[in-house]
Amino acid sequence: MNFRTLASIATLLTVLTAPLQAETYPSKPVTVIVPFAAGGPSDVLARALADKMRTALKETVLIENVTGAAGTIGVTRAVRSPADGYTLSFGHLGTHVVNGAIYPLPFDLVNDLDPVALLGANPMLVVSKNAIPAKTFKELIDWLKANQAKATLGTAGVGSGAHFSGVFLQNLIGTHASYVPYRGTGPALQDLVAGQIDIIVDQASNSLPQVQAGTIRAYAVTDSKRLSALPDVPTVDEAGLPGFHVSLWSGMWAPKGTPKEIVAKLNEAIRAAIDDPAVQKRYAELGLEPPAQDQRTPEALRTHQKAEIEKWWPVIKAANVKP
Ligand code: MLT
Repeated sequence: MNFRTLASIATLLTVLTAPLQAETYPSKPVTVIVPFAAGGPSDVLARALADKMRTALKETVLIENVTGAAGTIGVTRAVRSPADGYTLSFGHLGTHVVNGAIYPLPFDLVNDLDPVALLGANPMLVVSKNAIPAKTFKELIDWLKANQAKATLGTAGVGSGAHFSGVFLQNLIGTHASYVPYRGTGPALQDLVAGQIDIIVDQASNSLPQVQAGTIRAYAVTDSKRLSALPDVPTVDEAGLPGFHVSLWSGMWAPKGTPKEIVAKLNEAIRAAIDDPAVQKRYAELGLEPPAQDQRTPEALRTHQKAEIEKWWPVIKAANVKP
């Protein structure tokens, strides 16, 4: 029996058994691969949702942090997992859009992953260690211009949200301070609090609790409206840098070829998690916006991801960002 015949039989078997797989799904724990370090904004959001997905799926939902190269290691691991609904890829604008314009990925971000659901979005927050002698965003920019030879910006790797937002900021103000990569902005934030690095353009959900605790300073939010959880922090428009808008959205994907009935079950579990009152409270505390009601289908994630690729790839390629 030649290879082609074998492949056809395998495909036929997959098609025939998919409905049965879906009926009994899930029959073992589901693993969500988070491509950044524990304790960071991706990890915190994934764990908050996983907690409630367990209820809807009646099965354990595990988080596995697979870090490195701004998330490309973890996403590659997910792409290469069996398309059976037991391994999912958590990611965001950086991992499932920007990295495609920077890294020679061994897969296609759109064609090798099946969308499951958009999870929510938050703007970035420009934050610094408390020792920086700047009280306003304008003073911070002046400080950066005067100290760019030694100033450091923490990131989660080239292509991460903190990195491309930092590049965006420095391109706008004409500085070239250096970037310090971490396995996530959880560890980067720890170093900022400790005064080891100077600035992070961080997901608001990550830095917000430290700003509220007074252990770091916030200067501006990359949005046209202030965060209700940080009413005293101006928008970049109010602070003198209009147009420095970044909304970092997150999503969940499955390996290509995951049976659509299983994707539907996962999408329903995520919708139920997002609508859970405890999760809605957590979103509000962290400055996270849940997806609009008409943006909660798998197709909505696919459409959004494609639109963001159209928007960001030319910018990233023009900036000649290299790993
Ligand atoms: C990023 O900067 O890409 C993320 O905030 C990193 C993370 O979630 O740890």
